[in-house]
Amino acid sequence: MRYLVTGAAGFIGFHVAKRLLDAGHQVVGIDNINDYYDVSLKEARLNLLAPYEHFQFVKMDLADRAAMAQLFSGPRFDRVIHLAAQAGVRYSIDNPHAYADANLVGHLNVLEGCRAQGTAHLVYASSSSVYGLNTEMPFKVADSVDHPVSLYAATKKANELMSHTYSHLYQVPTTGLRFFTVYGPWGRPDMALFKFTKAILDGYAIDVYNHGDMQRDFTYIDDIVEALLRVSEEIPAANDQWSVEKGSAGESSAPYRVFNIGAGNPVKLTAFIEAIEAATGLKAKQNLMPIQPGDVPATWADTEDLFNAIQFQPQVGVNEGVAEFVRWYKDFYLS
Ligand SMILES: NC(=O)c1ccc[n+]([C@@H]2O[C@H](COP(=O)([O-])OP(=O)(O)OC[C@H]3O[C@@H](n4cnc5c(N)ncnc54)[C@H](O)[C@@H]3O)[C@@H](O)[C@H]2O)c1
Repeated sequence: MRYLVTGAAGFIGFHVAKRLLDAGHQVVGIDNINDYYDVSLKEARLNLLAPYEHFQFVKMDLADRAAMAQLFSGPRFDRVIHLAAQAGVRYSIDNPHAYADANLVGHLNVLEGCRAQGTAHLVYASSSSVYGLNTEMPFKVADSVDHPVSLYAATKKANELMSHTYSHLYQVPTTGLRFFTVYGPWGRPDMALFKFTKAILDGYAIDVYNHGDMQRDFTYIDDIVEALLRVSEEIPAANDQWSVEKGSAGESSAPYRVFNIGAGNPVKLTAFIEAIEAATGLKAKQNLMPIQPGDVPATWADTEDLFNAIQFQPQVGVNEGVAEFVRWYKDFYLS
């Protein structure tokens, strides 16, 4: 099949593209390779995709309406996997406009492209951050998510709303995936695992927010890719029996779904740091800090709906996954 993967130079997009190419599919990857974090890491990911005969990379900005219209005026994509976005909760405090451009204008341009092509299925990244002020655990898709605590989260919720509109008005089948703290090899330098591993190996202290009283539903990249690709084959159908009053918030009378995609197993930050210590063989020096604006203290995904749809349970635990990351980090940066 012919896939469009947006954000192909990014952490998750790279892994998805590689997995598709390994399976023999055609992949068109787009990315603007912005400098939100180390550009050379994005280029190194692309260098691994470049040799595949069925890979084509186009450097472009999602927010460039004319370029996006041009992209979608070419041969039809069987699936659109939309992962490009301005990510990161803390960066959105100081750089709100980057989120409006990439996540709102960019998402609209993807939806317009799917409408123009009659795309069979758009799968896009939402985020666990949409749960904002919610405290009842585990987080369920049926819960209200009207109280985000960062502009990033608000744009991700907006993506779900915009997608619903296009599913309803134009019958574009859409599935939104609320990712829960994805980690693994080729991961993002702005995320805790990368920052902690680097600091521990370099002998610096790590900043531990909320004095370590945090928990995250860490989800290993291979599990994310497997689940995402299974989901992409589950094209949502319009459900005439559904109503706002009686149906789930993750479904609709339109061809629309939203799932949590997490391990379903929250891990304390202290245990996560212990896993990095075990993998590096070094003890972490810790600066205990207050919680940062825009952050939430805990996340935990209810994944029952996802399991019912694709019969998949994440396979990789935190100790194993962290060890894989540390192996990659040492190989990539230190050898
Ligand atoms: N990694 C996680 O834990 C996590 C959690 C929740 C949600 N998500 C979402 O998953 C998706 C992928 O995240 P990731 O961790 O791979 O992040 P990433 O930053 O590594 O990848 C995103 C890619 O999109 C590209 N990009 C950004 N703005 C663009 C634009 N305007 N035009 C074209 N390309 C652009 C970036 O250059 C980057 O390569 C994002 O939508 C993110 O919000 C990730």
